[in-house]
Amino acid sequence: MNIGAQSVGSATLEEHDGFLRVALASLRADTVANFELHLALRGRSPVLYRAANLEFTQEDILRLTAYGVSHMFIPAHQTRAYHEYMEQHLAQILEDSELPMEFRTKVAYGAAQTVIQDILRDPRSKDMLRRSENLVENAVDFMFRESDSFYHLMSVMSFDYYTYTHSVNVMVFASALAKRLGFTQKEICTNSQGALLHDIGKSQIDPRIVNFRGKLSSEQWLEMKKHPVYGYDLVTAQGMTNPGVLDIMRHHHEKLTGSGYPDGLLQNEISAWVRICAIADIFDALTTRRSYREALDSFPGLRVMSEEMSSELDKEYFRVFVMMMGRSQ
Ligand SMILES: [Fe+2]
Ligand SMILES: [Fe+2]
Repeated sequence: MNIGAQSVGSATLEEHDGFLRVALASLRADTVANFELHLALRGRSPVLYRAANLEFTQEDILRLTAYGVSHMFIPAHQTRAYHEYMEQHLAQILEDSELPMEFRTKVAYGAAQTVIQDILRDPRSKDMLRRSENLVENAVDFMFRESDSFYHLMSVMSFDYYTYTHSVNVMVFASALAKRLGFTQKEICTNSQGALLHDIGKSQIDPRIVNFRGKLSSEQWLEMKKHPVYGYDLVTAQGMTNPGVLDIMRHHHEKLTGSGYPDGLLQNEISAWVRICAIADIFDALTTRRSYREALDSFPGLRVMSEEMSSELDKEYFRVFVMMMGRSQ
């Protein structure tokens, strides 16, 4: 797979002398942003264009465009406010067919990263379910509206392994596979939230274990294996009742051979969504770079899955996944 592995991090942003350079197209007409907007004309240093909390209008956009402005600058310390603004206006941005596909894809991927990073940092925050649900709804809607969005998303994916990049990638792979398998948009929206949140239980484990290079000791491994239950408990405490999401949170490491954890479920006890997430989860883990090993390309990754894990994975779903990935070459 020739993806040109890159870390988009905050997607549309580039840092520049204490400022973030953001596309003018990411700012929506007739909105109020709680960050300053600065303008840099002809390579000069940015100067204040609009103070925070003032309306940014369609007239502003037309005037700036007429001056040939394509980017604005935001003080770097206000990055968070910009992320919140993007998340708030995500639906409008993703629906705007005048914006280039690549740009919208980066916004979607960047917004997803921001949401899951915040959740991993503070998994007990009151709005974590609302934010993840809103994000997944917009991302899945985008995937259904734009038929090639999965391949665009793959082209901006980060292949450096962090729990937050992994979470977003698993949501993308699982949603795309479920779409290919014929699940409805509503079903995918409901269940992909589980894919996005599946590993948040890792936030409850000592980072020295989560980030350990090499083989874990048996005690460390025992602790690591608790993350599905920790994640399940976290979302339950927030009031999550959706059985599909709870199932994924708790059972994404169950195996069709019955040798998975935490409940050692048997084949007929493992749901379709858990089977989908297991494929997405393993594929992403194999094809992303860790500090201690290189990533496999997608074909070698699929070969390892087919040769070494075929008894653990749903054969039909895996066959469809291979076909779907074949198109990305
Ligand atoms: Fe996991
Ligand atoms: Fe995972």
